[in-house]
Amino acid sequence: MDYLEIKGGHALSGKVRISGAKNAALPILSATLLAEGCFNLQEVPDLEDVKILLELLKELGIKVKKSANGQVELDSSKLESYEAPYDLVRKMRASVLVLGPLVARLGKARVSLPGGCAIGARPIDFHLKGLELMGAKLVIREGFVEAKASRLKGAHIYFDIPSVTGTENLMMAACLAKGKTVLENAAKEPEIVALGEMLINMGAKIQGLGTATIVIEGVKSLKPTTCKIIPDRIEAGTYIMAVGAAGGELIIENCIPDHLETVILKLKAAGLKIDVIDEDKIKVKKKGRLCSVDVKTQPYPGFPTDLQAQIMVLMATAGKLSVITETIFENRFMHVAELKRLGADIRVEGRSAIVKGVKHLNGAPVMATDLRASASLVLAGLGAKGTTIVQGLHHLDRGYEKMDEKLAQVGARIRRLQSDGV
Ligand code: EPZ
Repeated sequence: MDYLEIKGGHALSGKVRISGAKNAALPILSATLLAEGCFNLQEVPDLEDVKILLELLKELGIKVKKSANGQVELDSSKLESYEAPYDLVRKMRASVLVLGPLVARLGKARVSLPGGCAIGARPIDFHLKGLELMGAKLVIREGFVEAKASRLKGAHIYFDIPSVTGTENLMMAACLAKGKTVLENAAKEPEIVALGEMLINMGAKIQGLGTATIVIEGVKSLKPTTCKIIPDRIEAGTYIMAVGAAGGELIIENCIPDHLETVILKLKAAGLKIDVIDEDKIKVKKKGRLCSVDVKTQPYPGFPTDLQAQIMVLMATAGKLSVITETIFENRFMHVAELKRLGADIRVEGRSAIVKGVKHLNGAPVMATDLRASASLVLAGLGAKGTTIVQGLHHLDRGYEKMDEKLAQVGARIRRLQSDGV
């Protein structure tokens, strides 16, 4: 198994280019099921999660042609299956995003229930209830959800919690439903806006993208289109925080500063110098020890849960005491135990972690438990004294394109090695 060896204490300097957003690419790839013909997508990130979804789309009958430069052509003229098998959905829970498009396009779908994951139960009840409100008949059998609908009909759907993929799944389904669908308390993430804009380019009638109320007027059919995946705001936030961990100065290229407004405000309050130097560039510089700030994760535009583990690393060596509260997922503190192996002083009380700043962290072998936790361990290694070994890289590779290479190019002493056959 691969692992990372990180020799800490080397400040960063140079430019990092952000890749296309994983959480925009996954719904946009799923949306190609909605129309017959050839789609041309650019800036598709080369990630494990994307590879798994492309495998699934191929099993459904889509012809996929990937080029080296992030361009992917998909021909969805003929679908051969309506089933998303357990072995793929188990590996990548966002595969559930094919459910809405399959029912809308074919009138049926058989999708494995995704099961839980390290950060929480991750139910999909909002997805299923919404489809039932739209007239689909659902049966849960042998771990699969089997959905049937001659033609979905518009419905008024209220999300108890603004679910990101729930909003995406039902927005896609509603595009081909008969009549109007209103999604209330919908999620407002930029990835949803990006998906909605692509659907509009395909001929969908959608209003309210980026607000809590999205209105979709169903149409009879949609047509294929081209689409450039937006930059990954979570990857950008991770590299901004890499400067917070390791010190130095970076220019983050190909990012959208507006998508990081809350994160930038929070990190400036912690003492990081952050300047927007262009519509797609941010300059970040560390000037001395950071101050402790409290953080509470919220749905967009609040502080993103996907950057909670990373900011915890910064608070681990900040001035005083920081309270980090995770309101989205019930078990997203798996990185705490690993950070404590590096010398962090953190106590978890329910949904909050109390982080007492220590002078510095000390390198040690650590194990990644989930995608964003793995990124936080890399950041911790960059700033720690001594050498940190990060194992469990399959988590990291799900959501970060060539993270070790990007960091090595800006001065980090980081190597990806293979353990002898273990
Ligand atoms: C999306 O997950 C992202 N994944 C996650 O990113 C992100 O952390 C999350 O949104 C929150 O922002 C993708 O976009 C592929 P939710 P999603 O539905 O859609 C509860 C990463 O690291 N809920 O917004 O699965 C749920 O349990 C990943 O890139 C229900 O109860 O999250 C959670 O508490 C991790 N029933 C809350 O809502 C449902 O039917 C928000 O979940 C759906 C969700």
